[in-house]
This record gives sequence, C-alpha cells and structure tokens, in this order.
Amino acid sequence: MKKFKLTIAALCLLLFSPAAKADEGMWLLQLMKEQNSIDMMKKAGLKLEADDLYNPNGVSLKDAVGIFGGGCTGEIISGQGLILTNHHCGYDAIQQHSSVEHDYLTDGFWAGSFAEELPTPGLKFKFVTRIDDVTELINKKIAAKEVTETEALSGKFLSELEEELYKNSDLYNKPGIEPELLPFYAGNRYYMIYKKVYPDVRMVAAPPSSIGKFGGETDNWMWPRHTCDFSVFRIYADANGEPAEYSENNVPLKTDKHFTISLRGIEEGDYAMVMGFPGSTQRYLTRSEVQMTMDNENTPRITVRDARLNVLRDEMAKSDKVRIQYASKFAQSSNYWKNAIGMNKAIIDNKVLDAKTAQEKLFAKFANEKNDQAYKTVVSEIDALTKEMADNLYKYTYTIETFYAGIEFGTPYSLLDSIVAATENKNTEKADKFKELARATYSDIFNKDYDHEVDRKVAKALIPLYAEKIAKEDLPEFYSVIEKKFKGEYDKYIDELYDNSIYSNEKNLEKFLKKPTRKALDKDLGYGYAKSKWDKMREMMLTMSELDKKFAIPHKTYIRGIGEMRLAYEGLPSYPDANFTLRLTYGNVKSYDPKDGIHYKYMTTLDGVMEKEDPNNPEFVVPAKLKELYENKDFGRYAMKDGRMPACFISTNDITGGNSGSPVINAEGQLIGSAFDGNWESLSGDINFDNKLQRCICVDIRYVLFIIEKLGGCTRLIDEMTIVE
Ligand code: ARG
Repeated sequence: MKKFKLTIAALCLLLFSPAAKADEGMWLLQLMKEQNSIDMMKKAGLKLEADDLYNPNGVSLKDAVGIFGGGCTGEIISGQGLILTNHHCGYDAIQQHSSVEHDYLTDGFWAGSFAEELPTPGLKFKFVTRIDDVTELINKKIAAKEVTETEALSGKFLSELEEELYKNSDLYNKPGIEPELLPFYAGNRYYMIYKKVYPDVRMVAAPPSSIGKFGGETDNWMWPRHTCDFSVFRIYADANGEPAEYSENNVPLKTDKHFTISLRGIEEGDYAMVMGFPGSTQRYLTRSEVQMTMDNENTPRITVRDARLNVLRDEMAKSDKVRIQYASKFAQSSNYWKNAIGMNKAIIDNKVLDAKTAQEKLFAKFANEKNDQAYKTVVSEIDALTKEMADNLYKYTYTIETFYAGIEFGTPYSLLDSIVAATENKNTEKADKFKELARATYSDIFNKDYDHEVDRKVAKALIPLYAEKIAKEDLPEFYSVIEKKFKGEYDKYIDELYDNSIYSNEKNLEKFLKKPTRKALDKDLGYGYAKSKWDKMREMMLTMSELDKKFAIPHKTYIRGIGEMRLAYEGLPSYPDANFTLRLTYGNVKSYDPKDGIHYKYMTTLDGVMEKEDPNNPEFVVPAKLKELYENKDFGRYAMKDGRMPACFISTNDITGGNSGSPVINAEGQLIGSAFDGNWESLSGDINFDNKLQRCICVDIRYVLFIIEKLGGCTRLIDEMTIVE
C-alpha cells in the first residue's frame, strides 16, 4: 500500500507541476524525503538540503525551534539560549511581572544584564529531541485484535503505550525528557515524540504594548499591519546544560543551534518557510461539519464572549489595576472571539460550503472508481453523526464558554464535602489537611489577577444570557433555586452568591472551617451553584466524548480516502491536520487582492505606524521615543535602501494558532522575521486553505532588531546574535 503510494507519487510529480499548489500544507519534517516535499521546496527556491532542515542523526535547523509556553513557538537566536517569540506569546509573562508600580505592559522591559533577566515560574521551553514512527507497531496490535481501531485512538490506550515505549527507550529518565504518543492523519499514522523540557526560562526584553501590540484588537487578524509583535526570553540550565528548575546557580543554556539573522530584506516572490507548532486545523471536514462549526460552536462562542468582553472592556477602562489584572485574560478571549466572527464571515465570503460540496462529489466519483465500499458510504455516515452531534455541541459550547472560560468564581465543593466527611468521621488529621487545602484553593481563586467585583458583573451578564439560549430542562439545577427562592431575580441571587457564600470571603471560609457541617453546605449557595454547574459540565463532556468516539473511524476512513484521491487526481501528497506538533510550511513573500479594486502590498513600513497614530485611542498611541527615532531617521543598519524602516510583511505560508512566534526563514536558512498572525479574508483557512487569499503575517526581523537596539538600548543582545547583511 505504502509502496503503491510512493511510486504513483513519484510518477505524478514528474507529470504535474506541484509547485503551483505549494503554499498549502503543514508538512511533517520526518516525511520530507518520503513525500518528496524537499524537491518541491527546492523548486520553490530553497537552497538547503533535507538534512539541513531536519536530521535525525545530527544537528539541524529544527534544533533551533521549540515550544514556547503553553501554546506558542519560539526560536533560538544566539548561542546562549536567547529565544525570540511574539509579544502576544510573552504577554502572560509580561503581565505576571507587571503591577501598577512596574507596568511592563505599558513601558516595556529591557534587562540590562543577565542578572536583570526575570525568572518566570511556570514558563517552559521544549525542544523536539526525537520522532519515532510507531504506526506499524500499532497496526500490528490492531491486526492481532489486542485493541480495536477505535480504542487505538483513545487517550487511555495512547498514554499506556506511550509509557511503555518510553520506559523501554534509551531516553528513559534522562533529564527533562517528555514523551508524547500521537495519532496523525486521524490514526492512519502514529508518532512517538520525545521532547526535552527546560523549566527555567527568564524574561529578557519586551517592547511597550504600544509597539508590541500596536493596533490592538482593531488590527488583530488584519493586514496591513504595523505591530512589532516580539518579545525575548532566555533558557537557563544547570552547569551541564541539562534542564533544571530555577536556581541562582543556573546558567544561560549553550545551544547547539541558533538562527543566523539576515538583514538583506525581502522582495515580492522571495522564498519563505516557517517551522513551528500549529495547534489545530480541521481541513478534512465535510460540508455538514463546517455548517455545524459555524452555527453550533462559533456562534455560541461569539455570543458569550461578546457579553463578557463588554464587561471587561468597561471595567479595564475605569481602573489601571483592573486593566493590568485582566490584560492577558482579555486578549486571550478576544483573540478567538474575533477569529470566530471572521471565520464565519470568511466561510460565506469564500464559498467554503460550496467547495466542500464539490469535494464530496469528487470523492463519490473516486469511491465509485475504486469501488471501495467504505469510501462510498463514509460521507453520509459523517453527516448522520453530525446530526446527532449538533445540538450537543451547541449546549456544550454555551456551557463551557459561560461556566468554564467565562465566570471565574466557584467553590471547590468536593473539597468541602471531604472536610465535612472527615469531621463527621472524627478524623482530625485528615480534616486539617483538607482545611489547609481549602485555604490554599481560596488564595488560588482570589489571586493577583482576580477581581471579585469584576467577576460579579461578568456573572450578571452571563448567567441570564445562558438561560436565554438553553432550554429550561437542560439548565443546571441552580437555575431552579433562582426561580423559586429569588423569584427569577438573577442579580439578587448573584449578589447573595458573591457576598454570602462560604468562598465569598476569608471570614466566611474560616467560619465554615471552624464548624464544618453538612447543614452548612446544604444551605450554601456557592456549594449548590458549583456542584450543579460541574454536574452539568461533566454530563456534557461525557456525552461529547462518546460522540467523538463514533466519529473516529469515519474520520480515519475519510482522511485516508481524501489522501489517496489527492495523490491519484493531482499527484499531491497530503499533510495531516495540525495537532501542535512540529511542522514546516513553505511558500513565498506575496501581495494579495482582498477585493475587487483593492491591492495589498507584501510589506509595510514605519511610515504606516505614523499614519495610524491616534493619541486619543489607546490602541494606536505611538510612544514619544519611537516618534523621535522616526523623525531623526535614526534607523541604524536596519533601514531599507530607500531609507525607510520596514515593519511587517506577508507570505503564503500555511500557519495557524500555535505557530505564533515561529521563525520565518529565507532560502538560505536565515531568519527574516517572526510569524504572528493570519489575515481577515482567510479566517476560514483552518477549515479550507485558500491559495489566493491566505497569508501569514510576519514582523520583519529588521524592525525587531531596530526596536531592541534603538528603543530598548539592549545592544548586549544584538552583540550575542549572528547577523549577516
Ligand atoms: N491573532 C494573533 C494570533 O492568534 C494574536 C494577536 C494578539 N494581538 C492582539 N491584539 N490580541 O496569533
């Protein structure tokens, strides 16, 4: 089967000109040779060999790329563990370190020496150490009936096998090693990935938000762009260069590989590639699934976030303290709120549903030609499952967006249960332990970034909204308390909940801990609220995961079929959906025409920052220092030949969330920018890549270095980089 694919692929490559479609694809580096993508890259302009990009037996460019924090990419830009990533990726850390006194969000942060670099607990950087193909092993288990095909996709099976493989590997118990076994192509392939995790990552530099987040929510997901979306961190390790928790004795990591930075600049049509960790795409959905995503996921998400963001926006404008506390939460929520709006619009504008219908027609033809029974019925199978799923997805999204991602206040009700049980059993030791835990949970909830009054207002907006959208019989139990005891007056209930329940304040908690009785719990609004909300969430998660299981085999079949069809009809290999694993996408620097009569250039300059300047709009304020540099044309060696300062550029690279911070690399393997966004017109891209419209938005490395050197005065960082003109 595999061989069949290979020969046909090789043949087709000769017959067709795949370079024309080169832009789409989040390619697996480990399949570069098998899929011939390296030849396609060379055709597009790459001047390197496959081993320069990914070499399982030696050092390659991939060793200078890693996972930054929970969901971004970063790249190594010096021999001393210096990381470049986006400002919005470092945002959480910048916000953590900020207070009204040290407002690094507003003022930026520039460490003047190693000693000034700020330890950031919880922040990690992960390199990919090794990737093993374990498809055959799993297929054998399926053939031997040790597992079913569906079970082979379950978390339980994967984590057990992951543990077993790890234990038997030469990497077992080596410092910092983290194994991960994942299905690709919906289970048509499996890879075991070993990562090396460095837990001491320090904050080194960040521009003021007026530069790193210039354009704010208005410009987010939009081109033309003028955001210098970068921040700089550093990996520290023990004296042997091994991962170690923070210690004063740790030293900057001596990295095996770092990017050389090119100041040569870019032209329309230049080769560009991006290596990084795209989080999630759904490129193989059927038409019915796309419709379901629009109506039952995106729309509920937009509705709930809209209501929450309106509250946060008002409260943040009123107080500096709240502005800093909620900066990161706001940005996170608003990012995919706007994305969902843009995606629904782009699905319609770009006629994605029609494209899906056309694909299904073509697939039916292919299935008939092959006379493959599974292929013939798989789309209608998925359609039927979608019908079953749709209502549940709607309820699930409303519930998660409201009670998980929306309202923060909650009571750890089962912990309180345990305290009461231990007390009733006269197990003082156990009770005391739980009491300590309850106090710790209290400080977790009422942390530096939480404001009880802001959250109360969020609850007042979301709890009634949820009741409007969800059928009465599906509401969590606490809604009947509102109806019966509070005569349907939401605000009264919420005030009582936020003022007088056990977890409302320390005094109430201590009062309960002194005399923890079942009766007190039964009376407590917070207990009832939290328990019924969690009961509902658990019930829905269970339903959803049962439904997900039913989709597993049809998806696996459909994705395999689409892959075979693409190869047969177009001579093109396929890539698996993004799953936050290392990928490579290649293409070109390229302008586009978003609408009739409009042409968007492939790059922007600092002139555009000045054009957008609006001192009365916090999103478009230009700091005085940057204006001064602009007026004096004090751009150093970073200016273009015509004297202007480059800002951002766009390329045809296929990226999505998770790629943020990824290195944008030229034909010689040098760093020319950092990828940070996608464009508005192609926000349907996670579902359907549009060759004409989809662009990757990047900050030009020259803009980054100019800000570090001229605005931040951090020449010590420039000095440790390898820069070529
Ligand atoms: N849209 C960008 C991404 O998902 C994030 C940009 C963050 N900036 C902002 N203004 N919220 O990668």
